[in-house]
Order: sequence, then C-alpha cells, then structure tokens
Amino acid sequence: MKLLHIIATPRAHESNTLKVSTAFLDSLNAKHKDLEVETINLFTENLPNVAGDNIESKYTLSMGQPIDKRHKESWEQIETQIKHFLSADLYLISTPMWNFGIPYVLKYYIDAIVQPGYLYKYNELGQPVPLALGKKMVCITSRGGDYSEHSPFHVYDFQEPYLRAIFGYVGITDVHFVNAQPMDITPDLRAAALAGALEQARNLASNNVWSAVGNAAGAAHSA
Ligand SMILES: Cc1cc2nc3c(=O)[nH]c(=O)nc-3n(C[C@H](O)[C@H](O)[C@H](O)COP(=O)(O)O)c2cc1C
Repeated sequence: MKLLHIIATPRAHESNTLKVSTAFLDSLNAKHKDLEVETINLFTENLPNVAGDNIESKYTLSMGQPIDKRHKESWEQIETQIKHFLSADLYLISTPMWNFGIPYVLKYYIDAIVQPGYLYKYNELGQPVPLALGKKMVCITSRGGDYSEHSPFHVYDFQEPYLRAIFGYVGITDVHFVNAQPMDITPDLRAAALAGALEQARNLASNNVWSAVGNAAGAAHSA
C-alpha cells in the first residue's frame, strides 16, 4: 500500500500539523508492514508552471487538439506530477488553515494536477466523470482558532469543505479529517487541542481498514 504524504506547511519541526501527521503515520506504520510512504513537500517542490505553454496546452488538450513538441516537453512536467499523484492508494494531506482556506502551495498543486482527461473527464452529456477511483484520503489540518461545529466561526471554515469538494470531484470520496484547533489562543488550549488531535489521529490509523481497493484511475490522455 502506497501513501503519498502531501505537506503544505513551511514550518518543518515546529509545525503543529506535522506533529499530528507523525502520530498518524507512526500508528499506520505499526499496523501495516507493507506501507510505503512517499513525501512531497509543496514548499520545496519545484512545481510546474500553470501558465504560459502549460496553460495553452491545457486548453488545447481539453478541446481534443494535439500539442506541438515544445508544449509537449513542458506539459510532461504536469504529467509527471499527475502520475506521481495517481500512483498512490492513500493520501495524507498535512495542511494548516491559512486565511480560512488552504496555503497557496496546496492550491497551486491542485491547479497543476486536477486536469481534464487525467483526474476527471466529461461524458457525452457534458457531465464530469471522476477518474481517480479506489483511493482514500486523510486530511490533517491545524488552525489558530476554533472552527469546530459548536463554534460561531464554523462558517468560516472553507478549508474542509473545499478539500472535500475538489477531491470528491475527481473521485476521492473516502476522506477523513482530523482538525487540531485552536492552536494559537493560549498554551493550555493548544496543549489540550493537540492531545485530542493526536488521540484522534492514532485511533483513525488503528481502527480503519486502509488496504487498497485498487488503483483504478483511467486517464484519457496518457500520463
Ligand atoms: C499566513 C497564515 C494565515 C493564517 N490564517 C489563519 C486563519 O485564517 N485562521 C486560523 O485559525 N489560523 C490561521 N493561521 C494560523 C495557523 O493556521 C496555525 O498556527 C496552524 O496551527 C499552523 O500550522 P503549522 O504549524 O503546521 O504550520 C494562519 C497562519 C499563517 C502563517
């Protein structure tokens, strides 16, 4: 079983989010001896342009037209990221909340990989059909404030609904969230929230069936 750990915090060892993710990964590793973990750190990864030649290719390909050699060479960087993404059975996204949503690097990554013909396609009725099938996802987030259901700020949580929407759109609907919150109000509140999130992450890793249900993505273009 291959897990792709997508890191969207620049804080490395200081990261609140990664403390919880590490607990999740440790518990998962203890349970699944066959677990293979690959990591992509979006703050250090050299992500392909979603502009210039690549934006031209995106629109050309979406109309079913071929792209020339120069565009192809550049587009291969997008395909490499897509291929890497689709090679996983399970995803772990580690992301803080930034301005009620996700950090720009995670949005950039999503803009690069969510391409028609690769992660979804349109059917003859013009409806989107997901192509990233048979996969599971865990999103571990941390927030300075509290956006949980009982909080008056719950409506400002654009992070969890967005991630559920975009990955659900491409076929990843088996998604679990562990949200560590609040992290930045007082040390006591942070300690209590972190302890709760660590326990939730360990339980999630131990009590779920994570074995792969097959790498069933079928891309229309050859990634
Ligand atoms: C640029 C930036 C924007 C942030 N925006 C929010 C926000 O909208 N709501 C919130 O509760 N916390 C916000 N925070 C605080 C972080 O979500 C919080 O400190 C989180 O635990 C950091 O996770 P990390 O240590 O893994 O990077 C923001 C932090 C940064 C750096």
